[in-house]
Amino acid sequence: MPADGDVTPITSSETDEADGDRKPSDNSADYTELVSQLSGAELTLATGTTDVESEAAFAFDPDADPETVFPQSVASGDPTPTGVVLWTRLEPARHDTDEPLAVQVAQDAAFEETVYRAVFDDREAVHAHDHTVKLDLDGVLAPGETYYYRFVHDGVASKTGRCRTLPAPDASPDSVSFAVLTCQNYQNGYFSAYDYIAEEDVDFIVHVGDFIYEGGGTEFCGPGSPDLPDRQFELPSGHDRVRTLEDYRYLYRKYRSDEFLQKAMENHTLIAAWDDHEIANDVYWDDEVNAPRADHPRGDDPEFMTRLLADAIHAWWEYMPSRIEYDPDAESLQDRFTMWREFGFGDLVDVIMTDERLFRDGPREGLAPLKHAVHPDNEDEGRTMLGDEQREWFLNAVENADAKWTCWTDEVLTIPLKLGAGPLTAFPMQEGWDGYTRERRDITERIAGMDVENFVTLTGDMHTYVAGYKQTEYGGPIAGPAPKESRVGVEFMTPAITSLNVAEALGANGGLIGRLTEPFLTKTVTWMNPHIEYINSHHWGYSTVEFTREDCTYTAYTVDKTDGTADADREVLVAYRVPDGDVELQDVTDAARR
Ligand SMILES: [Fe+2]
Repeated sequence: MPADGDVTPITSSETDEADGDRKPSDNSADYTELVSQLSGAELTLATGTTDVESEAAFAFDPDADPETVFPQSVASGDPTPTGVVLWTRLEPARHDTDEPLAVQVAQDAAFEETVYRAVFDDREAVHAHDHTVKLDLDGVLAPGETYYYRFVHDGVASKTGRCRTLPAPDASPDSVSFAVLTCQNYQNGYFSAYDYIAEEDVDFIVHVGDFIYEGGGTEFCGPGSPDLPDRQFELPSGHDRVRTLEDYRYLYRKYRSDEFLQKAMENHTLIAAWDDHEIANDVYWDDEVNAPRADHPRGDDPEFMTRLLADAIHAWWEYMPSRIEYDPDAESLQDRFTMWREFGFGDLVDVIMTDERLFRDGPREGLAPLKHAVHPDNEDEGRTMLGDEQREWFLNAVENADAKWTCWTDEVLTIPLKLGAGPLTAFPMQEGWDGYTRERRDITERIAGMDVENFVTLTGDMHTYVAGYKQTEYGGPIAGPAPKESRVGVEFMTPAITSLNVAEALGANGGLIGRLTEPFLTKTVTWMNPHIEYINSHHWGYSTVEFTREDCTYTAYTVDKTDGTADADREVLVAYRVPDGDVELQDVTDAARR
């Protein structure tokens, strides 16, 4: 077992700033400098490993309340075969920079078999990042193991977190399982699903984005949303939508104050992507002005949006236990952040995670979403969601994946979703890959040509449960389904934890109207889309996906988001199995309910 080693505390030396509502002209000069504070080169602050003198740093009062010093508890993420990123945040009023912040990792929850101990040397750096701290233990731990960890400051210990490393690259695990999550609007429901996720017997949590929503009040709620005054809040800037770094930090603190979310973060190691709401609704990159654009009151102000995106990712980097590459020398801000990355689970699963937001072109002009406009040949050549560099990286990763299962985690719906029939067909999900059909065709055909077996795509964003086939060609309700040979894989979409779904947006999620519209939506949409086996946008919850030598199984749960207690109702909504070597969705719901 490796003991103390070289590790990098992920902190920097930026100072706090008082964020007001910045005008476009007052941010262009310093955003570059601000963002550059995330540079890896500036993060190499020494972490002292313990010696006899620092033993006192690990002493604590067992009766002290962890929340008084660590109000957002702890988290772990971005596993490697030899480490994880550990995360915590100190309560500012209890953060004494004269006192050490210590961290311990052990093989047991009683901390009798300690494998790593350290104190953070640069205490001001913790202060500078909203009192958050991240520690990258890559290279320190052993593969395929579960560990326990805690932080200690000023005589108080945090809650104990449990984390897990990836299997060794040459390992042959019998199974790997994920809880798959997305879309958790704090105002639109309780995080009771997280209480169940915390107890799920899964190896890791995969979050495909919308960890926060960038609004206060009742932003992003709808006519069917529950009235939950205790879930509402105002942003520090006083605006409905985020304006500042402080707004984003406030959102993360608010979301991470939820006891169920905390419990899940304490119990599992997180693999997280961002989607649009970590930045701003429907964000994309406007090449004409080389700046982000989004659904935001100042979404068409390039300088403001550039700063906003830098602030958004700055806060994400501070608050998420993730390890993403940052290149301060990249010419464009979008090119500085490399969120796309891979996770290998021995010879069983290769997970390839992509970023669908920073590089995407804007909405298609013309008559989309009508059918004749939504066709690869009617799109501009070069139109992209992934950007050229990421797309080639992704296709390379798929081609080189040599595990039994290749798993693409992509934030948005990848398969077509049609409403209507014949000439009266529309593709309403232009935010997903239906808005980028030329690139989708290119990717699908190239993957089909690679002869990749066992290709599973995990998505979110749409606040809907989906199980369907990825195909090189798609049939229709009148022409019938495309032949089985056209299948290149399956897609499983996980539902929102709480965010506004279709039924809620229409005010059709409860009572008799809910009971009538739910089967109607499933039957109608699956008839219009023969490649979709199942769709449902009447519930909230999460899913689990388990990969074994024999199969991959998606089990989707509903959890009552209006019940903020640990007794919220939970049910299996649907479950599908894909056997090894065959692109076939088998309904195993009855077995999953037993
Ligand atoms: Fe969402």
